[in-house]
Amino acid sequence: MIQTYDDHCGDLQFEFPEHFWWGSSSSATQMEGGAYKDGKGANIWDYWYETEPDRFHHGIGPTQASQFYEKYREDIQLMKATGHNSFRFSISWSRMFAKGVGEVNPKAVSFYNNVINELIEHGIEPFVNLYHFDMPLDMQKIGGWENRDVVKFYVNYAKTCFELFGDRVKKWFTHNEPIVPVECGYLYGHHYPALCDFQKAVQVAYHSMLASAEAIRVYKQLWQDGKIGIIINLTPSYARCAHPEDIKAANIADLLFNRSFLDPSVKGRYPVELVEFLRNHNFLPSFEQEDLKTIKENTIDLLGINYYQPRRIKAKEHIPNPNAPFMPEQFFDYYEMPGRKMNPHRGWEIYEKGIYDILINVKNNYGNIECFISENGMGVENEQRFIDDDGCIHDDYRIDFIKGHLRWVHKAIEEGVNVKGYHLWTFMDNWSWLNAYKNRYGLVSVDLNRDGARKVKKSGHWFSKLAENNGF
Ligand code: BG6
Repeated sequence: MIQTYDDHCGDLQFEFPEHFWWGSSSSATQMEGGAYKDGKGANIWDYWYETEPDRFHHGIGPTQASQFYEKYREDIQLMKATGHNSFRFSISWSRMFAKGVGEVNPKAVSFYNNVINELIEHGIEPFVNLYHFDMPLDMQKIGGWENRDVVKFYVNYAKTCFELFGDRVKKWFTHNEPIVPVECGYLYGHHYPALCDFQKAVQVAYHSMLASAEAIRVYKQLWQDGKIGIIINLTPSYARCAHPEDIKAANIADLLFNRSFLDPSVKGRYPVELVEFLRNHNFLPSFEQEDLKTIKENTIDLLGINYYQPRRIKAKEHIPNPNAPFMPEQFFDYYEMPGRKMNPHRGWEIYEKGIYDILINVKNNYGNIECFISENGMGVENEQRFIDDDGCIHDDYRIDFIKGHLRWVHKAIEEGVNVKGYHLWTFMDNWSWLNAYKNRYGLVSVDLNRDGARKVKKSGHWFSKLAENNGF
């Protein structure tokens, strides 16, 4: 039955398909802590914090991430209590291999074995991601993703993980949001090495896609009876209006930020328009002919979709300065849509229907590949002000946010999109890149003043009901 879905659907019941994946997602650097413990080597975040701590909100670095390394048993019990039947975490490459390559660290192996086993014992399926923005420092010293050799080292790391953990892990992901290290590290200066160099950005993007395809190939060769995919942040590009110049601008943003990763991952080829764009501007990456075959033959089984906010695009109003560095924004401008709904705490637009538009696009243009929402969430500052007499954070805004998006996911499922689950960002408040603990996203709060004490928020209690009822 198809309903009319507006922002408020009153008492409608939204029931999800059987065995729907309810859970949350996380990443090693943001959650583990123990930055140098038990043989872990430094990654770019540890290094950046050591050398430039002022870049981080309140000077808090990854050493103070949420202590999952020590508290994982307690945390997994809380995952169970909040209704998780699945949980995505990432393996820290520099915990497994201190220098990115060489001897595998036995303490890392035993930590990840313990986490995986503990999750399974609690009926929670581990979804494991191999790369979430955390290049080992020694790999970055030789150029990180700019250097083709790093692809080889990454594949060695991936193969080691498949061999060690693949008997129990049946959902693997090669990257989380591969565009983020590209744009933040090589265009806008938010991540190390904080460069602004379009040519390098293209090379980094290309090598991460090649690494993904190579890892998929190795995984398939091992015949482990699981699925392997990638997690991509898709930001629908909405043109300001139907004017052809606005539409053209929105299409370029879509091509550069969405299709540049989605097409090779799902279809095994780069969009012709992207190749033309890069060729016309003299930015084709260096590549080997054989790579195109690798990318073609090793597409994903499962697509993780991260969705936070859309892109609102209009045509350029001013001619770009010809001497400025080459940037995507030479081809479009952002605009603030009047009346748009904002998350006042994070500065991001909330547009629930965006999630539906993405899913319909995946169905219509990407062969309706099996997919799931792998991140969606609401970051809020200073949530302590919402603590009630029961000592619990009453984050009704987060419950509304999740419901608002799930309604649209439900509609997409009714229309035949192959969506298998919904993972919230995130299980517990965690450290986040430059923002550190500024924006809290968790179903469970973490009190930094009390040794990271955990407490389930109202949304966590609600989420357990959501999962138990398989809907709301
Ligand atoms: C996602 C990332 O894009 O956004 C996460 O995968 C990140 O790592 C999340 O934490 C939220 O972003 P932020 O900057 O508000 O923490």
